[in-house]
Amino acid sequence: AEMPVEGECGRDRHQFWVGERESPKKACELYVREADHSFHPQLPTQKIWGYDGTVPGPTFVARYGTPVLVRIHNHLPSSATHIGYGSPEISTHLHNLHAPSESDGFPGDWYSKDKFGPSLTRPGSFKDHHYPNCYAEHDKYPETDGEPREALGTLWYHDHRMDFTAPNVYKGLAGFYLLFDEVDSGNEYDTNPKALRLPSGVGKYDIPLVFQDKKFDSGGYLQFDQFNTDGILGNKVCVNGKIQPYFKVERRKYRFRLLNGSSSRFYEFFLTGPGGDQSFSYIANDGNLLAKPLTMKKVRLSPAERGDIVVDFSKFPIGSKLYLVNRLLQTDGRGPKESLSSGGPQLLRFDVDSNPPTEDVSQVPPLLREQPPFDPKDAVRTRVWEFDRNNSTWSVNGQLFDVTKPAAIIKRGTAEIWVLKGKGGWWHPIHIHATEGRILSRNGRQPPEHERGRKDVYPLGEGEEIRIYLRFTDFVGKYIMHCHNTVHEDHAMMVRWDVVP
Ligand code: C2O
Ligand code: CU
Repeated sequence: AEMPVEGECGRDRHQFWVGERESPKKACELYVREADHSFHPQLPTQKIWGYDGTVPGPTFVARYGTPVLVRIHNHLPSSATHIGYGSPEISTHLHNLHAPSESDGFPGDWYSKDKFGPSLTRPGSFKDHHYPNCYAEHDKYPETDGEPREALGTLWYHDHRMDFTAPNVYKGLAGFYLLFDEVDSGNEYDTNPKALRLPSGVGKYDIPLVFQDKKFDSGGYLQFDQFNTDGILGNKVCVNGKIQPYFKVERRKYRFRLLNGSSSRFYEFFLTGPGGDQSFSYIANDGNLLAKPLTMKKVRLSPAERGDIVVDFSKFPIGSKLYLVNRLLQTDGRGPKESLSSGGPQLLRFDVDSNPPTEDVSQVPPLLREQPPFDPKDAVRTRVWEFDRNNSTWSVNGQLFDVTKPAAIIKRGTAEIWVLKGKGGWWHPIHIHATEGRILSRNGRQPPEHERGRKDVYPLGEGEEIRIYLRFTDFVGKYIMHCHNTVHEDHAMMVRWDVVP
């Protein structure tokens, strides 16, 4: 039986602002610790792992071009006394940030007070992460259009501890990191003519929402199957750490940043309300705005993918209820099956509660952010990557993850074409660190419209082939590509690649 819809949706209890333009450099700290959490008023309060002890972690609001230094303390119970699933050593990755290698949360960079991973030289109770929040060589390449660009929207951070990413993220180690610039300025009253004036105010009219399915046992406690290498599916979907929450809205426009933070589940979100399925504006995919808003009735997201939508609630009378539902059927870690034509579990309820106290001046302009031009002929080589299954583990080009050896060595500044091939009847949402790519083709054809912007997650279906253009700029060092079905990732579906001067 479905649990009743109740419990407050996790508005940002814990939001903090960093790196604003006015104060050019900021440092802040995060404490990773075990804490009590309630997923639902009818379930027992239980232990989770969270950044600052919260699920999700605090939302960062950062400014493009303003670097931030984040010291991440590991205060999880010590490895010596730890029982249960997951690993109390951590390595935090800021997903989609163009970050220096040593701050990228490399899976072998895990640390705790008394243990450390193969690519570190000593243990530590904390590690510092430098997030430049920009693209330094922006005047050099055509696809940057002379403009500073790269990851300018909805990013997220999460644990990336080698072999234990799935359980560690499942236990709560994930949060949002939002980047703004003068175009997507986060201020709907902005008088700068460049400003888009999208619905704004993080936690107010600009709402990050992370969807994570989790399995609760009959006593209401979180469960994780360490022996399942296919993928983990939950029996409940949490939205910002709450099962089937509600969210009160005013009769105006809202921006929702949908993040699929699940281990293995894909979603196809629909918004149903008075009169049936509602359309909305789909404005961003992964970490960037699209060239133009798309009017859509659904958003499909693979694990780790993001989609920003704007919903206008002004057309609904006070007292209306709308539901965000998932219509994608999935029964195992293989990936999604078919979509339902109606119905679907209600993940989040919107209660149209009041008129806005002031007039809604926000807008969804007809043009958002122009996609920078690029020329595939700049690519110096093509690499083919095959994602397949080897007995009960997962491989890339027939190999299991080797933390010590790069599978590719790339010269800094060059562009390459990477061909991702899905084998063996499984879906793999492939994520490439450090640099965003442009999809040249999907199975020989142009990708769907929402995939024509810059991307970092490439949902790869069985037998599919995706060709991607990538430019490797700024930083040298070790990076990775992996399947973001985190269970596949932990079972070795990952490659290290290095950028050299
Ligand atoms: Cu979202 Cu390598 O991760
Ligand atoms: Cu996979």
